[in-house]
Amino acid sequence: MCGICGAIGNENQISTVVAGLKKLDYRGYDSSGVAYLQTPQNQLCVQKSVGSVKNLQKKLEKNAFSNVVIGHTRWATHGNVCEKNAHPHVSSSGRFAIVHNGIVENFESLKQRMSCDFYSDTDTEVFVNLIENQTGNTLQKLQKASTLIKGSFAVALLEVGIDKIFLAKRSSPLMVAFDHRGCVAASDISAFAGRFDCCWILNDNEFAVLEKDKVTFFDQKLKKISIKPIKIDEYDFAEENLQEDSFMLKEIKEQPVVLRNTYFKYFAEIQNLDWEKLKKFHAFHFVACGTAYHSCLMGARFLKQFCKKNATCDIASEFRYDNNIFVKNCLYIFVSQSGETADTIACANLVKQKGLPTMCVTNVPYCTLNNLADYVLPTFAGKEIAVASTKAYTAQVFTLLVFALRLANLDCQEILKKFVLNLQTTQDLDSVFKQIEKFKKIFFVGREQDFVTALEGALKLKEIAYIGCIGIAAGELKHGTLALVDDETLIVAISTQKSLKEKMESNMLEIKARGGKILLVSQFKHDIDVDFLIKLPDFEEFLMPIVSIIPLQHLALHFCQSLGYNPDKPRNLAKSVTVE
Ligand code: G6P
Repeated sequence: MCGICGAIGNENQISTVVAGLKKLDYRGYDSSGVAYLQTPQNQLCVQKSVGSVKNLQKKLEKNAFSNVVIGHTRWATHGNVCEKNAHPHVSSSGRFAIVHNGIVENFESLKQRMSCDFYSDTDTEVFVNLIENQTGNTLQKLQKASTLIKGSFAVALLEVGIDKIFLAKRSSPLMVAFDHRGCVAASDISAFAGRFDCCWILNDNEFAVLEKDKVTFFDQKLKKISIKPIKIDEYDFAEENLQEDSFMLKEIKEQPVVLRNTYFKYFAEIQNLDWEKLKKFHAFHFVACGTAYHSCLMGARFLKQFCKKNATCDIASEFRYDNNIFVKNCLYIFVSQSGETADTIACANLVKQKGLPTMCVTNVPYCTLNNLADYVLPTFAGKEIAVASTKAYTAQVFTLLVFALRLANLDCQEILKKFVLNLQTTQDLDSVFKQIEKFKKIFFVGREQDFVTALEGALKLKEIAYIGCIGIAAGELKHGTLALVDDETLIVAISTQKSLKEKMESNMLEIKARGGKILLVSQFKHDIDVDFLIKLPDFEEFLMPIVSIIPLQHLALHFCQSLGYNPDKPRNLAKSVTVE
């Protein structure tokens, strides 16, 4: 995945693109770069830098001026992180420059058939040379090359001597906005940063040509088309006012407000859903990646518990290549914070091709999944910046809970209201965290809903503190993981279900018998001695997955910061994974 941005207009567009890239760096921050046609000589200039866009900005000459600029922020897929592999990539003659988000799956076979020299290890350099090798005008070359590409792309292309930016898209998001100052293209709406009232989102296999005062859209046969604009209204552009020491901490602390917003907006939002139709589904199948997959596990539990419906889950990258048995009368639910995760989108397309009904639960308005799905259930977490998801997760869990309760005709509005008005995220846990920060071998265990919390707690710690931990169903410990337990092992035991309290106590005794140390996370008093305790506030059991994950988010943050890492931008990861 990566972020691309391009701008054309009468003013200097370099700062527009650099500002856009800064907004897109959640899509990758391994390196960044720009290519521009220097005004007035019309020479192609390229500047790249490893690391964040700030590094690129330092390298750019103060007086650099251009009306036509493309830029890129990279999450490395083909070729390691270095300047040579950073985008933009230039064709061998130096005539074309391209920025690309996506993957050219057949780049090796294409490369073998090309005679030019390659300077990088990337698939994108193959793409730009493929364009150069085609016949016709620039747009025709781009279109012909696109048909030869297997894989996904959102690209912006420049050609020396031509004051235009050429765009093409398949499976990776791409949108355009324009006003009297010019046109901007970007991977997502955040790059438009409050400047525009509306934007045009390209569909797969469409093209666009950006000029200083207009944009023209084309279909896959290069026939001119018109695309309906989308109004940009509610999206939160004002997020970067950071008062905490990290976005992750800010977002953890925002959770009570997010849940309050969800509670108050949600009931209005769901009035429009066709509940009678939804109730007729016999089964629900969830599909997602990462943290969103954990929300799915929770969502499926709620549907089974409250609606007595069959509900199952799959990881998107597994589902898309599995021998799935597609069943009628099943609603396929795709959960995604960004709504742009490539594997999740591929699965939604797969289900749609079968003619089966789809619903998505997304946090970003105007995302690709929202365009695909029959039903859209928004979450109201607001913009989430930190790569490790916190408030989007609890918003998803809460939304899926309310969805299941509503589907089951259970009126829990008073319970939910009391919960959102009383939830706190500021328990003082520092003394516990200080005592456990020496542990390097950590397992998270729980049963049923607490098992899901264990998975999510372990993922948080892994993502930002780089500790190789896992979440395990407590009953599974004795089938393998117990072999790893010794007196240097910390087991985070989550226990929020009364009916399973004694089972959890037995599991903790097994751990103690092997010398393992226990951090118990619970609202109950348990009948065994534990080494460390996080006492949770007591709410209804079905709300405890939200209550119990919050200290685990803080725990991950504490480990991360005590090890000197940046929680907002963990190594090797990106917020939005738009490649397979
Ligand atoms: C990446 C992010 C995770 C996220 C996952 C799925 O791995 O770092 O935080 O859970 O993608 O993203 P989605 O936008 O589909 O929820």
